[in-house]
Amino acid sequence: MSNKAILEFNGKKYEFPVYTGSENEVAMDISVLRSVTEGLITLDVGYKNTGSCSSKITFLDGEKGILRHRGYAIEDLTKKACFLEVAFLIIFGELPTKEEFEKFKVDIKKNSMVNEEMKDIVEGFPKSTHPMGMLSSLTSALTAFNPGVVNVNSKEDMYNAVTKILGKFPVLATWAHRRNNGLPLNYSDNSLDYISNIMQLMFKIPTEQYVINPIAIKALDELLILHEDHEQNCSTSTVRMVGSSGAGLFASVSAGVSALWGHLHGGANQAVLEMLEEIQKDGGDVEKFINRAKDKDDPFRLMGFGHRVYKNFDPRARIIKKAADDLFADLNLTDPVLKIAKHLEEVALKDPYFAERKLYPNVDFYSGIIYRALGIPVAMFTVMFAVGRLPGWIAQWKEMRENGEPIGRPRQLYIGEPLRPFKEFKER
Ligand code: SDX
Repeated sequence: MSNKAILEFNGKKYEFPVYTGSENEVAMDISVLRSVTEGLITLDVGYKNTGSCSSKITFLDGEKGILRHRGYAIEDLTKKACFLEVAFLIIFGELPTKEEFEKFKVDIKKNSMVNEEMKDIVEGFPKSTHPMGMLSSLTSALTAFNPGVVNVNSKEDMYNAVTKILGKFPVLATWAHRRNNGLPLNYSDNSLDYISNIMQLMFKIPTEQYVINPIAIKALDELLILHEDHEQNCSTSTVRMVGSSGAGLFASVSAGVSALWGHLHGGANQAVLEMLEEIQKDGGDVEKFINRAKDKDDPFRLMGFGHRVYKNFDPRARIIKKAADDLFADLNLTDPVLKIAKHLEEVALKDPYFAERKLYPNVDFYSGIIYRALGIPVAMFTVMFAVGRLPGWIAQWKEMRENGEPIGRPRQLYIGEPLRPFKEFKER
């Protein structure tokens, strides 16, 4: 593999170094392009061909459908580890020893209280507020009660910031659901594991004991592992960009929540369920919706299908599809929407339009069906994605800071008006 790239421009030749990653990906370093060529920049709208950083956290191969965190295959991690163990791996780079893991869990629980005054902020939102909007605001507001988390200057500061946000974020996430439904805001229950605590935060009512269902907890733990990190996706790139300006971890994660909200990104899991319910209401004619998705004049897209990087099956979708089957069998559930999803997938994968464009089910296609089986309302699906993605946002923000990366500031190609004289009102 060559270690340099040659560019010819305006009759001159320029050489740029080419780096090879640990999985033999190659990247041309153009950091001096504009200066050596006296002004030439690249243009890559949507960054489809542009690497923003070097990273040791996650490797994915979109052609082969591979996903690994710190070298461990996602298939192994979902089978052999739990959500917080994978979070430790993603954030600190190694699977935790027993002692490290016990300390990590204790330190997170020590931070599972949220300042009581945060409740005043929650009460300020209309009950109709989308939970993602509430979560983004509340996450940023955490800075007001934890000012020390903004300037993270030592390993200890970083560890404290990590355990603080891992302890408080699930509380804020579930408060959004409680506010939407006029329910009292729950506190964490430190006698429970991380995932069980999330479920009790979401569903416990003061008048009854909350009964943990181990089958549901196992399914949710596995589902959230599949969401923990996904290299430089839209919301993670946002967290890195915001953090590069010196903004604190809470503010950066708050921005990541907002980016994830979009229906083309994390908001797709909510859009998938709404699409499947629309198909069900419409009589289950999946071919009709497939044809709509193929019609260029119809803005309808098959939500949960397609991916910027995966041009093969999203490995997470395979695992989630099986997890949905296992959960329904274990809980002796049936859901007509799951049958519609499987039929939709079967028809789409046989259709040349999807095959030619390498459009396969992604992580969002089946996840909502599991959330629904667990009693999680559709409006909270993307919030659950955010709870799952939090360790990845933390890890990527931490890596960007530890690498001392400069403030992110892309260039542009100006195509607007040339210089023109000011016009007074009478001339306009
Ligand atoms: C996530 O980046 C990540 O890693 C994200 C994520 C993560 O873990 O962080 O994996 C999570 O965001 C998964 C994606 C969830 N979004 C959806 O399911 C929304 C539906 N999918 C599409 O909108 C789309 O596939 C994207 C946004 C996911 C990817 O878009 P790209 O890479 O910009 O591709 P494109 O829009 O240029 O599409 C290429 C072609 C186009 O057709 P042509 O113009 O070539 O004829 O494929 C078509 C598109 O119209 N196409 C679809 C389609 N997705 C792409 N047509 C119908 N239905 C779809 N879903």
